[in-house]
Amino acid sequence: MRHVGILTGGGDAPGLNAVIRAVVKYGVGQKGWLLSGVEDAFDGLVSDPLRVRRLVPRNCGGLLQRGGTVLGTTNRGDPFRWKDGHDHGRDVRRNLERLGIDGLIVVGGDGTMRIADRLMREHGVPVVGVPKTIDNDLGATDLTFGFQSAVDCVADALDRLHTTAESHDRCIVVEVMGRDAGFIALHGGIAGGADIILLPELPWDIARIAHKLDQRKRLGRPFSLVVVAESARPIGTAEAQGRAAELVVEAIKGAMPEIDVRTTVLGHLQRGGSPDAFDRVLATRFGVCAVDLVEAGRWGELVALRDSRVVGVPLAEAVRANRTVDPAGELVRVARAVGVELGA
Ligand code: F6P
Repeated sequence: MRHVGILTGGGDAPGLNAVIRAVVKYGVGQKGWLLSGVEDAFDGLVSDPLRVRRLVPRNCGGLLQRGGTVLGTTNRGDPFRWKDGHDHGRDVRRNLERLGIDGLIVVGGDGTMRIADRLMREHGVPVVGVPKTIDNDLGATDLTFGFQSAVDCVADALDRLHTTAESHDRCIVVEVMGRDAGFIALHGGIAGGADIILLPELPWDIARIAHKLDQRKRLGRPFSLVVVAESARPIGTAEAQGRAAELVVEAIKGAMPEIDVRTTVLGHLQRGGSPDAFDRVLATRFGVCAVDLVEAGRWGELVALRDSRVVGVPLAEAVRANRTVDPAGELVRVARAVGVELGA
């Protein structure tokens, strides 16, 4: 009987539990696997005692719509540089052997995939990867689950902020997630009708922002919604400093002291809660594909959405370049076409 382990690593994303559920239902329920859930990413395979528990349909009810991950996760669990200061790569392999686990399904972002890839290359651990990030910046797949749910959260927040901004003639600056890429800001901003969207890929210029705010005032719309990605930066600066919304607010106040400005930082609201219907379907497709890859012995592959089809691609692709918003791409053009100011 095949014995497979599954773990979730890095920041959580809505849909992780839906992947686990699909692997339980298909792998255990239909393919007859033994499935072990590893707790807190690779930590469960390094810590003493090991933290691994058997997953069966009976103890995995209600996972489709549940946010977070029932297995737990951490982004400080690199076994090659573990918290005790030692390299435990070899221990992961040994512990899997002790537990009788043939291979691992690793659900995570680029950091987790880098670890998985290294475990496979340096210690021969058989791995199948499932990509996850709300940022949607993994180059290997057209889309990751969690992203649409995060975008829904931004759109919903903008709908709410719209009415209060309009009532008070205010400018509300909304900071959204996206560590290195502006996909959440761009999609969420368009969906929520933002007037200005500031992306890391297009450094902002206060003169253009002020021009847009002034233009809206002259058009009889003296309120505005500004979406700023957490990694956006002013023109002329080399890299993001953090405090993305604060910097924008300071610049607006400096250029237009008469404008009443407020800030909302959405933060982890974008990561928590139930996956939307789209992410439930995508996560289920990813989980089923992961089982198929294991069944076919295609260790070393990553599940990916390519041109609307879920397929397996070499895991190494997941650790290559991340994707960012193309400043000359279709969505940027669409945003501009509907009057959004996008920075420089
Ligand atoms: O990569 C996902 C993400 O939510 C980013 O958008 C954000 O920068 C980061 O994780 C936040 O990480 P943490 O939860 O560790 O603060």
